[in-house]
Amino acid sequence: MEVVILADHQAIGAVAADAVESLITRKPTAVLGLATGSSPLPVYDELARRHAHDGLQFAQAHGFALDEYVGLPPGHPESYREVIRREFTSRIDIRPENVHGPDGSAEDIPGACLSYEEAIRTAGGIDLQLLGVGTDGHIGFNEPGSSLASRTRIKTLIEQTRRDNARFFDSIDDVPHHVVTQGLGTIMDARHVVLIATGAQKACAVHDFVEGPVAAVCAASILQLHPHATILIDEAAASKLKLADYYRYTFDNKPVWQGL
Ligand code: F6R
Repeated sequence: MEVVILADHQAIGAVAADAVESLITRKPTAVLGLATGSSPLPVYDELARRHAHDGLQFAQAHGFALDEYVGLPPGHPESYREVIRREFTSRIDIRPENVHGPDGSAEDIPGACLSYEEAIRTAGGIDLQLLGVGTDGHIGFNEPGSSLASRTRIKTLIEQTRRDNARFFDSIDDVPHHVVTQGLGTIMDARHVVLIATGAQKACAVHDFVEGPVAAVCAASILQLHPHATILIDEAAASKLKLADYYRYTFDNKPVWQGL
């Protein structure tokens, strides 16, 4: 796990966009794992800018969303399929048919989850998975207690997550209780995971998953077992880390050839 402490969300967006650009340049057919929420927005903005101004191409790329609410009608502005379209994929040249999301409105949810896992496998697996982290340490919507080996399935949101996400809806009553999410096992299969966390409200979760024990009670801690996990955080999110100075020193003195 590499922890990189950066000045602000713009710097984080640029570093994460560098990782995506380097991947897509050496592998134009790359499969991207796409998170929603606020954390990845600077990355999507920067990639859209590079597409418009520097000609960065996504024409052969594929995208798989991390998760989806259950019960929102298709096309609902806060459905994650719609958020990803609005915030990212409609701003680049990725083909709409190459962008996939778990089906939260399927009649057969377990069947749709199996099909989603199969679609990821058929595409060759996820090359780079973008992640945020919840204040309770969730990644995707793998809430505390999630099996560390879980695959795509339905989950019930914890009340704290519904409160955190109420800002996207008119009222907390409109936030669905259920979601379909890639499992922790699914996320761990990605070849590179890049997790973004900013702000003091994430400091406890960041401390717990980076420096605490690997435990289902803090789902993101499974990333300690990932061979290539990059954690991009700002100073506020880093404020509870015991080894913050070491992480800074390591990044500042990293051989350039290592990349991210
Ligand atoms: C979103 C997702 C969630 C968010 C997390 C943080 O697809 O899977 O894990 O990444 O809830 O949300 P923000 O970034 O809004 O703080």
